[in-house]
Amino acid sequence: MQEIKILDAVPEDAVGIINLFYKTWLATYPNKEKGITIEDIEDSYKDEFSVENIENLKALIRDLPKNKKRLVAKMGDTIVGACTVIRNDDTNHLRTLYILPEFQHRGIGTKMWNKAMEFLDPTKDTIVQVADYTEDAIRFYKKLGFVDTGKRTTDESERFKSGAIIVDMEMVRKFGWGRA
Ligand SMILES: CC(C)(COP(=O)(O)OP(=O)(O)OC[C@H]1O[C@@H](n2cnc3c(N)ncnc32)[C@H](O)[C@@H]1OP(=O)(O)O)[C@@H](O)C(=O)NCCC(=O)NCCS
Repeated sequence: MQEIKILDAVPEDAVGIINLFYKTWLATYPNKEKGITIEDIEDSYKDEFSVENIENLKALIRDLPKNKKRLVAKMGDTIVGACTVIRNDDTNHLRTLYILPEFQHRGIGTKMWNKAMEFLDPTKDTIVQVADYTEDAIRFYKKLGFVDTGKRTTDESERFKSGAIIVDMEMVRKFGWGRA
């Protein structure tokens, strides 16, 4: 396998990042029991590849606030992973961590997390929200030392066309960490 590099995202990565999110959402979130369909995901992404949206993301990457880090994992020119972390006043927040489906289970997610941790405040807890039915992701976070806080949330702005909605499980990794 070609070498995977973990790098700070640059504006030129915008299309690759959107593509990564789109493909990973399609592979991760459709769920019969929850009523989330492939069409729901397609609908959520119908405007994501518009010029306007791409330019917006480029600007967000260019004007990144000091407390936020956006990493990408690249194999050659292909973006195979993306991770965003935020240093808030009270906690660290692991905002997103997505690996292209065909590149999962190769240690890239762990590698990205280890790199992201270098930016975070080691004296503070880190929280992550993960869809409550994505067992692979939950197991992955448990392996990294995260535990379920019991809190569940939904984001109305992310309700799908079908009416279904993802319930997020909050997990926390206590401060005083070592490396995964
Ligand atoms: C969750 C996610 C980020 C993990 O990334 P990943 O690159 O697959 O993670 P890793 O490869 O580091 O670890 C995953 C598993 O592969 C195993 N693994 C790591 N390297 C491996 C290798 N070389 N060979 C076989 N297995 C390996 C790990 O032990 C781990 O085992 P687990 O399933 O028991 O936890 C990724 O699966 C993903 O993008 N999921 C969909 C999106 C999502 O739910 N993201 C989280 C929302 S914020």
